[in-house]
Amino acid sequence: MLRIIKETKEYYHQAEKCIQKAFWNVYMPGCEEHYLVYKMRSSPEYVSNLSFLALDDGYVVGAIYGSVAKYNSDDIITFGPLGVDPKYQHQGIGEMLVQEFIKETKKMGYKAIVITGVPEYYPRFGFQNCYKLGITTDDGTQFPALMGLELEKGFFDNNPGVFQEASVFFSLNRNEVEKYNSFFPPLEKKILPGQWKKQKK
Ligand SMILES: CC(C)(COP(=O)(O)OP(=O)(O)OC[C@H]1O[C@@H](n2cnc3c(N)ncnc32)[C@H](O)[C@@H]1OP(=O)(O)O)[C@@H](O)C(=O)NCCC(=O)NCCS
Repeated sequence: MLRIIKETKEYYHQAEKCIQKAFWNVYMPGCEEHYLVYKMRSSPEYVSNLSFLALDDGYVVGAIYGSVAKYNSDDIITFGPLGVDPKYQHQGIGEMLVQEFIKETKKMGYKAIVITGVPEYYPRFGFQNCYKLGITTDDGTQFPALMGLELEKGFFDNNPGVFQEASVFFSLNRNEVEKYNSFFPPLEKKILPGQWKKQKK
């Protein structure tokens, strides 16, 4: 039976494995998101109460991770990575995780969620693009993957702002990622169409 739980320690490695499978070769040859999860758990912005797993008979098949971000001077929430084991995709598991995430973020009193994510996926949850809401990154750029969802009515009205994620999102080191891969079953790296992400040095 499928259920959504808050992440607990006993599932850490299984959840990272699931994230690795979800992202492997999707945006770059290999991936770094499983290492991001590991690093994120010890970053000050990480919110353990906003980390959810989808379990199928005790087996992790999906995961989502939340952290505090800044919107101008407000503390808001972002999520990522969100991943579903490829064998379990297209069954509504991603949707269940995002819905649970939104519900809990609202309960915690946060006024908005801002993410960078697949632009085609998130509008179904109410996310709107940055052009409409007036969101930019700290270097002043806007792009379709940058999206926001207000949890407090009117949060984005006349409130253009700069979105800043936790530094852990930008500080992954290529050698550390490679080293971390040795704790996981070997997977083949492939160069595939649609990969746009560059690994950091
Ligand atoms: C994105 C992801 C989490 C969705 O999980 P999921 O459980 O398959 O999602 P759901 O079953 O709730 O929804 C599936 C629908 O989402 C949409 N969708 C999913 N991934 C998409 C993508 N990359 N681009 C566009 N639409 C997408 C499609 O409409 C799909 O409909 P379909 O099943 O009729 O094809 C999953 O595909 C995944 O882990 N992808 C690899 C990692 C990733 O890209 N994570 C998100 C980064 S922002």
